[in-house]
Amino acid sequence: MHRITGLNVSQIRKDFPNLHVEVQGKPLVYLDNAATAFKPQTVIDAIAAHYRTETSNVHRGVHFLSEQATARFEQARDKVRDFIRARKSCEIVFTRGTTEAINLVAYSYGRHFLNKGDEIIISEMEHHSNIVPWQILCEEKGCVLKVIPFNDEGELDLEAFKRLVSPRTRFVSVVYISNSLGTINPIRKIIQTAHQCKAPVFIDAAQAVSHHKIDVQELDCDFLAFSGHKLFGPTGVGVLYGKEEFLEKMPPFHGGGDMISSVTFEKTTYNTLPYKFEAGTPHVAGVIGLGAAMDYVQSVGFEDMTAYEKELLDYGTKALSGIAGLRLIGTAKEKAAILSFIVSGIHAHDIGTLVNDEGVAIRTGHHCTQPVMRHFGIPATSRASLAFYNTKEEIDKLVEAVLKTKDVFR
Ligand code: ALA
Repeated sequence: MHRITGLNVSQIRKDFPNLHVEVQGKPLVYLDNAATAFKPQTVIDAIAAHYRTETSNVHRGVHFLSEQATARFEQARDKVRDFIRARKSCEIVFTRGTTEAINLVAYSYGRHFLNKGDEIIISEMEHHSNIVPWQILCEEKGCVLKVIPFNDEGELDLEAFKRLVSPRTRFVSVVYISNSLGTINPIRKIIQTAHQCKAPVFIDAAQAVSHHKIDVQELDCDFLAFSGHKLFGPTGVGVLYGKEEFLEKMPPFHGGGDMISSVTFEKTTYNTLPYKFEAGTPHVAGVIGLGAAMDYVQSVGFEDMTAYEKELLDYGTKALSGIAGLRLIGTAKEKAAILSFIVSGIHAHDIGTLVNDEGVAIRTGHHCTQPVMRHFGIPATSRASLAFYNTKEEIDKLVEAVLKTKDVFR
């Protein structure tokens, strides 16, 4: 019944135990995948197996369990390399998530290579995690933050970007897919333009990674980051990709165990890549779980997944647009399956609370993108964010729940 594209969604749904819980005595309709996505049983099993019979630290033991954990950990790194088509495994640094990856680059690259008057370009639709680390850097080093504006559809103004780029531009950091608008940004063009001025480019792929095949070599981005938990993997683990030539010359971010080559009180030397950036015991189970998540996503296949999500997006756009007084926020031509909206006369939080009574989970608020809200002159939106395991019937339930909310406020 759900077999619209090549995806067998009914079958896929069986892989995700969390889809089958009840909320308020009603079947859960989970439409908050941009906040975090559910985990397939294979990911849960991989994490449980590590803790049940394979618990061990990595890179630190010659005993069987440690060697096995290290092998699985490094296999996961190789999986990430292949997943985003990096050239080498040493270009894959495990972090706590996208936020830590951005902070790592702002701290390490930014403090070492940027100076007073250097310009950093971000966009008006960045998540706070891709704004604040650069602001902290600017305050400390006297750099200047420039912002690419977007239009009322939620599309970046590339002409404005071209005017912002200059020989003073020393770094560009932009989001691939906006978490609050759903816009898929033309990052290849942005990267090409930035590279004409020799500015390195960081891509925040936190939302993109679960919707699109990413090929860092084709994009030619210099850095890219994503979080495991939005890719159907565990929380607390993420990835920073960096071109070897950049990571090589960057100083460490955190100091501690595993990131050193030798330590004396006179002088410490650092480990090779990527370990130079992985101080302390990493999230071993998380990394192994992330490996399982990537295996799962690849078994489903991005082509079918993207096509199906586009169908869901078109269906949801039409269905929500039919509700009187509802306005979609973010109507870019190139969009991922994220539906942000406001309803006249009803606060987003009230919508979130009342649709929850119907078992429907959406996110409400500013989505850590206050400048986006300011652009539209609104305090918050309600946001339904879809994954490949969602269905048109679930979108219908959202629409019914919003209509019921409207009745309550009539
Ligand atoms: N950044 C995540 C979201 O958009 C948490 O909900």
